[in-house]
Amino acid sequence: MCGIIGLVSKREVSSTLLEGLKRLEYRGYDSSGIATINNKKIERVRSKGNLSFLEEKLANISLPGKIGIGHTRWATHGSPEEKNAHPHITNKVAVVHNGIIENNNQLRNQLIEAGVKFSSDTDTEVVCHIITSYINSGLNAYDSIRATMNDVKGSYAFGVLILNEPDKLFAVRGGSPLAIGSARNENFIGSDTYSLSAYSDNITYLKDGDVAVIENDSFRVFDYSNSSVKREKQSIIESVSLSEKGIFKHFMSKEIHEQPEVIAKSLSNYIDMDKGVLNIPSLPYDFSTITNVTLVACGSSYYAGLIARDWFEKFTNVKVDVEIASEFRYREPPMVSNGLTIFISQSGETADTLAALKHCKSRGQKTISIVNVGDSSMCRDSDASLKIYAGPEIGVASTKAFTCQLVVLACLAIKIGTSNGSLSKEQEKEYVKSLLSIPRLISNTLDKEDEIIDLAHDLSNITTTLYLGRGQMYPVAMEGALKLKEISYVHAEGYPAGEMKHGPIALLEKDLPIFMIAPSNSLYEKTVSNLYEVIARDASVILLTDNEGLHNIGLIKNKIKTFLVDETDIISAPFVYTLPNQLIAYHIALLKGTDVDQPRNLAKSVTVE
Ligand code: AGP
Repeated sequence: MCGIIGLVSKREVSSTLLEGLKRLEYRGYDSSGIATINNKKIERVRSKGNLSFLEEKLANISLPGKIGIGHTRWATHGSPEEKNAHPHITNKVAVVHNGIIENNNQLRNQLIEAGVKFSSDTDTEVVCHIITSYINSGLNAYDSIRATMNDVKGSYAFGVLILNEPDKLFAVRGGSPLAIGSARNENFIGSDTYSLSAYSDNITYLKDGDVAVIENDSFRVFDYSNSSVKREKQSIIESVSLSEKGIFKHFMSKEIHEQPEVIAKSLSNYIDMDKGVLNIPSLPYDFSTITNVTLVACGSSYYAGLIARDWFEKFTNVKVDVEIASEFRYREPPMVSNGLTIFISQSGETADTLAALKHCKSRGQKTISIVNVGDSSMCRDSDASLKIYAGPEIGVASTKAFTCQLVVLACLAIKIGTSNGSLSKEQEKEYVKSLLSIPRLISNTLDKEDEIIDLAHDLSNITTTLYLGRGQMYPVAMEGALKLKEISYVHAEGYPAGEMKHGPIALLEKDLPIFMIAPSNSLYEKTVSNLYEVIARDASVILLTDNEGLHNIGLIKNKIKTFLVDETDIISAPFVYTLPNQLIAYHIALLKGTDVDQPRNLAKSVTVE
């Protein structure tokens, strides 16, 4: 993912910005650049490729100035060429950006119609021109930035320089992390703790909707309502290393909160952001000939496969089977010739899944692995491999890897559907647009974590529970139950809501907590009828739904607990409804004092049978 660094100081900044970019290299990038304001002019140096090329240029081109921004770019909109490297500038504004602007094409077309000439293919340059247009209309720097944020839609973080305010650095957070590090006579901005920890012993994380106005000896933060706010200044432990927890108490918490960023990064590897269509790396198959798909995995990865089954069935019209690897490998079922088998695994080393892969290869199946660890056995043993780009997942309980698996599975289902004619180009664009909205939707849910913390307190004595859902929300329910049981040791079961009356309803008793997952979709009414069955037996319901779902539930909403998420569709619902369950499990485990990152009896990768 992209990395942002910025500095406003009493000293020259370019060499420190270059060093700061080196601390961002671990995030992965394909170009970089720095811009400063000096003598009433915005100066910029950029380079394609490794940072060493930028360093070489800076050795020959001085970049004076006591205020500047730097960026390492992971190409999303536009190829990894120097012309697309950040910072993007006009004669009055310089911008660096991390994230996705969903309405980029619409805004770009409006600017072109207004006579703006673009020099890059990026969404970031669009933002640069919009801020400039507001400046030209007479707005001051802060108001121009705020007005621009009202125009753009997506998940983003920006560092901004504005020529007519040469002593102020501006930082904007809208879904992607951005923080301020204060030091003597200077202030930094950075994408993460690690990038700031060499320069500052404290960190102030911005919140979504914040715009910070930063000078060399102070800074002010304004929230989405333009109210001046105080964000908590926390200490940074210098020893923070790449995979350390940073300001988070556990890796699991860090990884839950990384999801807007890593999902955006995963998306950028499978979607052409300019055209709003898929851009899947070439695979050695003619997908138009695929007649049967088998998804094989364990644990959370298996639940990802169950969720994806809806996508494969609806988008490809191909027969889909989803198998638990440890059952599949010993059942050794007959396989349809020329079938495609997909192995889903965060570690790429799960013994049962590897054994299933071996069985499928012996039956002449086409094999694709979807993994997080690139140089894993599953990668090597399958015909082709698709990485999920979740970054290192340290917590044993899978969170960001699970949602990034869903990204790749959704893209693969769309790809097969367009290849065999089951999906039109318009449908592909519609589903891709929905995928691109996911970082923002997940970020919105993360912003409501305080509500989950309150809910967890109410459930702190929970000993057993059920998670109920229909359609894709059934595997979402199973994944939510798995998260709770594996880190808090509470017995939890995910069950099809429609199956309650076939037995589990006997478990219901007064005050037994039951999680019900019900987006306002075609199965909502049916799920609500199950909710009534649950309430009629005095169990206590926690309903995960959206505004429409809450509105339609009627007066019983006063008898249940609810947690609301954004409106969703077949693409975004599994992501958005997984988030509250991850947070609920985490905060209940926190209250129970279990070892959240290394739960008892569990390993991150089960390399034995
Ligand atoms: C998920 O939270 C668990 N840690 C576990 O179910 C895990 O998903 C399963 O062991 C499969 O691991 P893999 O994805 O590395 O194959």
